[in-house]
Amino acid sequence: MNKRLIIAIDGPAGSGKSTVAKRIAVRLGIPYIDTGAMYRALTLRVLQKRISLTDTRALVRLSKTTSIALQGSHPERQRVLLDGADVTREIRTPELTQKVFYVAQVPKVRREMVRKQRTLGEKCGAVMEGRDIGTVVFPDADYKFYLTASSSVRAMRRYRELIQTGHSASRREVLADLKRRDKTDLERKEGPLRRAKDAFWVPTTSLTISQVVDKILQIIRTHSAKNPKVSGSFTLNSV
Ligand code: DC
Repeated sequence: MNKRLIIAIDGPAGSGKSTVAKRIAVRLGIPYIDTGAMYRALTLRVLQKRISLTDTRALVRLSKTTSIALQGSHPERQRVLLDGADVTREIRTPELTQKVFYVAQVPKVRREMVRKQRTLGEKCGAVMEGRDIGTVVFPDADYKFYLTASSSVRAMRRYRELIQTGHSASRREVLADLKRRDKTDLERKEGPLRRAKDAFWVPTTSLTISQVVDKILQIIRTHSAKNPKVSGSFTLNSV
């Protein structure tokens, strides 16, 4: 049951992907994979090793020798392990967030990360969230969703998240940082943020998280009835 069902959820920072993807994974009873956490963990390793963020060859080498694991079956309690050490909290600091793009823009690093992500997803299926899941990592995913929201709403969500997790932040800085991240995500040569042609577009500006989750589950339920590949392969707890 539930084997190899891949649900790709892509979108820009603050579009609600993580919260939505976690809830969908719980509702469908399949693993949740946060690919952003993997890029974050690798960036932390680069900083710990005092490697220059512009030393492309060293970044590629490190991407191949670093072990990144996601531990724990419940998405809300999932831990990110970097060479065995729990870095779940450390990878969320605003300082680290600003540096991830150096690592994420290197094509050979991305290819290594995509390889790791495919291995994880192919094992037992996943709700996988990121920027290039529907376009690069799993172009033949069973379902693809592309979440968007206005930049001001996304910045407000990020700001609240930071404050709630005990970080200090200014709304202006959060918005400026978000716009910088949008630019690097969109302009990256390899694996840029794009909506896959066959992805369902879900604008979330005026929707609550529960509404987005219900909308996505509704789409999956409707289409699974028509799609023999996935029909009957999983059970929705309730919609
Ligand atoms: O989703 P997030 O904010 O945790 O992502 C952290 C960074 O990783 C962000 O700069 C975009 C990058 N990323 C990426 O390039 N490709 C992915 N599949 C996921 C994240």
